[in-house]
Amino acid sequence: MCSIIGYYGKNSAAPIMVKGLKRMEYRGYDSVGVATEYDQKIEVRKGVGKVSEVNDSECLDKLPGRIGIGHTRWATHGKVTALNAHPHSSTSGKIAIVHNGIIENFNELKEELEKDGFTFVSETDSEVIANLLQQNYNQTSNVKKSIIKTVSKLKGHYAFVAMFENGILAAARYHEPMIIGIGKDDYFLSSDVLGFIEKTDDAIYIDNGNFVILDSSGMQICDFEGTPVKHQITKVSKEFADAYKGDYAHFTLKEISEQPETILNAGKKTESAIEQTADFIKHAKNVYMTGSGTSYNAALVAKYLMSKYAKVKIEPIISSELPTLHDSIEPNSILIAISQSGESADVLEAVNIAKKSNAKILAIANHKNSALVHESSLFIGMNCGPEVGVAATKSFTSQLAIIYKITEKLCEGCLDLDFKEVSNSISKILSNHSKIQSIAKELKNVSDIYVLGRGIHYPIASEAALKLKELTYIHAEGIPGGELKHGPLALMDSNVYVIIINPNDSTYTDTLTSAREIKARGAKIIGISDKNSDVYDHWIEIPSIKESMFPLIEIISIQLLSYYSAVEKDTDPDYPRNLAKSVTVK
Ligand code: G6P
Repeated sequence: MCSIIGYYGKNSAAPIMVKGLKRMEYRGYDSVGVATEYDQKIEVRKGVGKVSEVNDSECLDKLPGRIGIGHTRWATHGKVTALNAHPHSSTSGKIAIVHNGIIENFNELKEELEKDGFTFVSETDSEVIANLLQQNYNQTSNVKKSIIKTVSKLKGHYAFVAMFENGILAAARYHEPMIIGIGKDDYFLSSDVLGFIEKTDDAIYIDNGNFVILDSSGMQICDFEGTPVKHQITKVSKEFADAYKGDYAHFTLKEISEQPETILNAGKKTESAIEQTADFIKHAKNVYMTGSGTSYNAALVAKYLMSKYAKVKIEPIISSELPTLHDSIEPNSILIAISQSGESADVLEAVNIAKKSNAKILAIANHKNSALVHESSLFIGMNCGPEVGVAATKSFTSQLAIIYKITEKLCEGCLDLDFKEVSNSISKILSNHSKIQSIAKELKNVSDIYVLGRGIHYPIASEAALKLKELTYIHAEGIPGGELKHGPLALMDSNVYVIIINPNDSTYTDTLTSAREIKARGAKIIGISDKNSDVYDHWIEIPSIKESMFPLIEIISIQLLSYYSAVEKDTDPDYPRNLAKSVTVK
């Protein structure tokens, strides 16, 4: 989703910002822009497309000056056009801003500003920030006062950086991330540590409802009333700077291939938090587990696993649905929030609601410096390293591994976990690329794929359908095995492909019956199993493993199938259209 970069220092700002924006490309965007201040004048350059494309056409990195702001936009208000791209300037051109989030009252503010002679050129909500700041600056001639007045009028969630013609940079944060990178003789402002990690690993996470001003006298951080606040410098993890594709064609393939290793690292160094989580679960009145997209599918797996093996009831809730289900949470309940990024706005909102009810918040996250971890009293680290591909792959199996470890504590060792065996099984699946590649060729022109799984394999079927949608743009749907005859069977004909998740476990016979019912209607069957059957048109073999462990390995074949189908269809597996890695708006 949108990324912000700001630079204040002694070096040439534009090339540093363009590099920072490139590092944040994985968050998803459709247009890009940069502005710098030079000789008390602000120049803005922007356009639609990838950072490198717009840089080639607009020479973004050639802008002069040692102060600047940059942005990659993921459209919410207004089409994908160069005019709607950030930075946006105030009517006089004396202030430029970049913004993440949504200004909910932008229409009212715009009307008021128009009455005062300000004009607007874009369809965005963001442009009001530039003009509002200008109006307040005209009245106060003071950057600090104009920020305080501006934030008091804005409604919604936002993070913005404003650059003033007099060479002052200011940034404010309200429910959207904003981090200050502290360099040797410069400052960086960014939505993500990747924006500046190449330059420094010293960072200040600006608290919600605070702003910062950078000028020749240094840095000042204040709350929205203008009172200076204390801040802490954190060392950010350098490993997140190591996001290189290496010899792989795509990040997605690299990340899928890393799973034999990442599965072994999940939860490491946070073992005591795993133990405490199990203890909280045992004593809580209600246990809620929340997440979005893939992270929600991990919560669904937890429901089946904990119910079957630990006889513990948990309620998985899609984060964006939580506010409509619960405006509060019962006392003595816990919320386990799962999020790779730790920045998904829907997850943070769910956490906010639970916190207001005094529920304990436990986080399973990959980014330990994320907003989610800051909001939580306990943190379990996924430790899977940077995940750049928008479609979550290795983070899913890491989330599952942690859920398995918590369950193991709850049932006092009943799972007899052996992650070395899981890791070896994943390696075996990964060595079977050519078979999966040949099936992917066939899927190229298919318009509907269903994925069927029974019991604990149903959440994996949902995750598989999500991967297929995200990576191939083919309509895909997960079906709980038993539900086939209650509706989906009507859709089965010779144009349809159905992936059957069917390891040789207690669900095997019933699932095979469903496969036969589907086959009888002419659909093509891809079986994912450790046991072949004549019903499969294609068999993707997975190794035999303990019954409880199959979910950890069966998803790998579908990640590969989705990836290779995307390659066949010539879509970009790393950056699927319209999607963002970190969805930081509601
Ligand atoms: C976005 C991504 C998904 C991801 C979801 C949750 O929608 O495109 O791939 O599963 O966010 O992300 P999180 O970082 O909270 O796990």
